[in-house]
Order: sequence, then C-alpha cells, then structure tokens
Amino acid sequence: MLKFHHDFSLNESPEHLGLMDKAYNAVKEENESGQIGYYRLPRDTLPMVDEVKKSELYLDSNIENIVVIGIGGSSLGIKAIMQMLPNQTTKPIYFLENSDPVNISQIFSKLKKSNTAFIVISKSGGTIETISIFKTALDYFKIDLESTDAKKIVAITDSGSSLSKFADEYKIAQYNIPFNVGGRFSVLSAVGIVPLVLAGFNATAILNGASEFLESFFARKEDHILRKALYYTQNADRQMINVVFSYASNMENLSKWYVQLWGESLGKITKTGKKVGLTPIGLIGSTDQHSFLQLIMEGPRDKTVTFINVENFENDLKIADISLKHIEKTDFINGNSFNNLINSQCDATKESLVQSGISVDSITYDKVDEENIGSTIIYYELLTSISGVMLDINTYNQPGVELGKTILEKKFK
Ligand code: PA5
Repeated sequence: MLKFHHDFSLNESPEHLGLMDKAYNAVKEENESGQIGYYRLPRDTLPMVDEVKKSELYLDSNIENIVVIGIGGSSLGIKAIMQMLPNQTTKPIYFLENSDPVNISQIFSKLKKSNTAFIVISKSGGTIETISIFKTALDYFKIDLESTDAKKIVAITDSGSSLSKFADEYKIAQYNIPFNVGGRFSVLSAVGIVPLVLAGFNATAILNGASEFLESFFARKEDHILRKALYYTQNADRQMINVVFSYASNMENLSKWYVQLWGESLGKITKTGKKVGLTPIGLIGSTDQHSFLQLIMEGPRDKTVTFINVENFENDLKIADISLKHIEKTDFINGNSFNNLINSQCDATKESLVQSGISVDSITYDKVDEENIGSTIIYYELLTSISGVMLDINTYNQPGVELGKTILEKKFK
C-alpha cells in the first residue's frame, strides 16, 4: 500500500476544479482511443511473463548473467526496479548504456560468453550508444551470429525497426514494444518485463500492482494526482523545480527514472510558443540532508519537495547501545532501530520544510514490494501525463534532443 499526503493548499475554485476534470478526461481519452499505449501495459504485458518463462533462454541452465544493452527509457526503469528488490533476483543484470570506454571495458571483463544472455533494447532500433556497444560486444565476445550463439541474444524493439530486421535476419528472439508506447513510458512493456523475468523477478506482481493503481485512478479514487499536477502546473513560473527526496538508498535509480520521465516529458514549448519546464531533482535521504537541504531551506523559493519513505524496511538492525568517551551527546539514539532513525529523519526534515513555508507532499510505502513498485511507476506516469495536459504541451515527444544527434553525425562523416 502507498499512502499519499499533501501539505500544500490548492485553490479549489470551480475554475480550478474544472481544469482537473478536463485533464482527467484528456488522459481517459488518450487511453480509450489507444492514442497513448502505456495505460494498457499492465494488463497487456501479463501473458508475456509466461511466454518468457517458456523461452529457450529462460530454460537454459548455463545462463548465469544477464546483460542489458540500452539507454534512457530502455534501461532506467529496469535498473530502478532491480535496485529496489535486491533479494528477489536469481541472476545479476549488468547494464551497458553509456559510451564510456572504461565502464564498458570493466563490465566486459567480468563476463563470459558461455554463461551470459545479451538483451539489446532500443525502441527506435538505431540509438548510437546502444548499437555501438552491441556491435562491440559481438566482436569482443566473438559471438557468431550464424551459430547457436545467436540463441543467447534477445532483441526488444519496435516491430519493423532496423534492429527488428536484424533480429529477423539472424533468427534472434525478439519482443516488440507497442508503437503507441514511448521509451520513457515503456518499463511495463517487454522492455522491463523480459529482463526482469529472465533475472528471476516476480514481474506478475509488479504488473498487478500497476493495474490496481491504474483502475483506482480511472475510478476517480486517486484524485490527489490531479490536485498535485494542478498545484505544480499553476505554480510552474514560481516553483519550477520538483525535488523528490527518497529516504531509502535503494531508490537512487528510481530517482534517475523519475528525472528522465519528468524532464524529457515536461520541458517543452507549448502549443502557443511558450517555453515551459518542470525541473526534476532526485535526492536520497538522509545522505542529501548533508548536501542539498541547505539550498532548499534558504535558497530561492523555487522548489516543491516530495518525500518518499518506507515504514517497514523489514530489517531490525539497531544502533549499538555503546557510549563512546567524549561523544556521549549522541547516546540519546542508542538502541533504536535504523528503520526508526531514517523515518524520524524524514519526518524531521519534512517538518522543518513545512515550518519554513515550502510546499511538501509525501508518499509512504508500508514496505518495498513488487505491488508498491508497480503502483509507483503508474503514479508517476499518470502525474506526468496530467501535468503535460495542464501545461498544454506534447508530453510524449522529445524534439529537443535531435539537434545534438545531427551535429554528432556531422562530426564523424
Ligand atoms: O523516452 C525516450 O523516448 C528516450 O529517452 C529513449 O528511451 C532513449 O533515447 C533510448 O531510445 P531507444 O530505445 O530508441 O534506443
């Protein structure tokens, strides 16, 4: 279960409430018309779980490691889920995403062709980092595409893409992403589900958690999302930075996923030509209380803060009941659980922000499990879509990244 709480006050005038209904109807229409496909993923991807479990690769007892080659929406969501469920995997997943030669070489040196599955993920099928690393892996591990080596590869891409045609050419196992699902909204499609199932995660529970939350939203039981999006977008000129402060080290990759989803979706030019943007920042508590908190407290009042915390870490580690000479002033905490300490730190920081007049809301996990993770994914995707409607932008494209790609190409031609 996730609990949501807002500490900011919203203008509930009929005009504002009307904006919430309008955004709800727009998102409902995106779903019902099939214009945008991520709303259907929790249900539509379910059969894929069994399909993967019957695949040759899943049943191959030699496979001990999984490598995901992909970037952006083709890796961040998988990394987020994997990190939040550290004890649920039977096989480690390595990620090859950045074109950093040291990082690529380090990961290559840890792997052997004989026990590794290579999953190449690219919706477009032509992303320069992904395809360059994939080619280099084929060469480094001496993978002969005309031999049984090809059985160790899986391609996840749009049907008909260049990568899809390549996979067809060499009879490489292939899973497709629905055309109406964008990269950063694709974690509950084959993009996330295939690697997670191969690595031993309970993907069914993640999809079920997402389904339930989605149904609840469309039944108007999650209107807090509409209120939050309205508050953010109405105050976008003043409070344009949305900090997510997660009090769990294992949520660092969730932060990165959120940063991509929010930033790439909501930094846009509106239909009337205005440049708008809500800027995401992901922090980890309590660590970042010692780095970023000062800026939130005394810097410009341009930020909102969402606190994410976990009530029950299912870990009973306690602070040792020891008094150290000259450091006795910290003894007041002795014998308490770290679970209690980190949650109290979250509460204390939240209270200090509220007292200082900063807009705060919170998401509380009773525990970190698959269902709650599925709900969180859908929660943020819905919040992004609704904010996009309220900002009057196209949430699902990213034209701003194209110019750099063209310039890069010219540098090599
Ligand atoms: O959200 C998006 O569409 C992008 O961030 C993509 O996920 C990213 O650029 C990777 O693209 P692709 O999956 O086509 O390789």
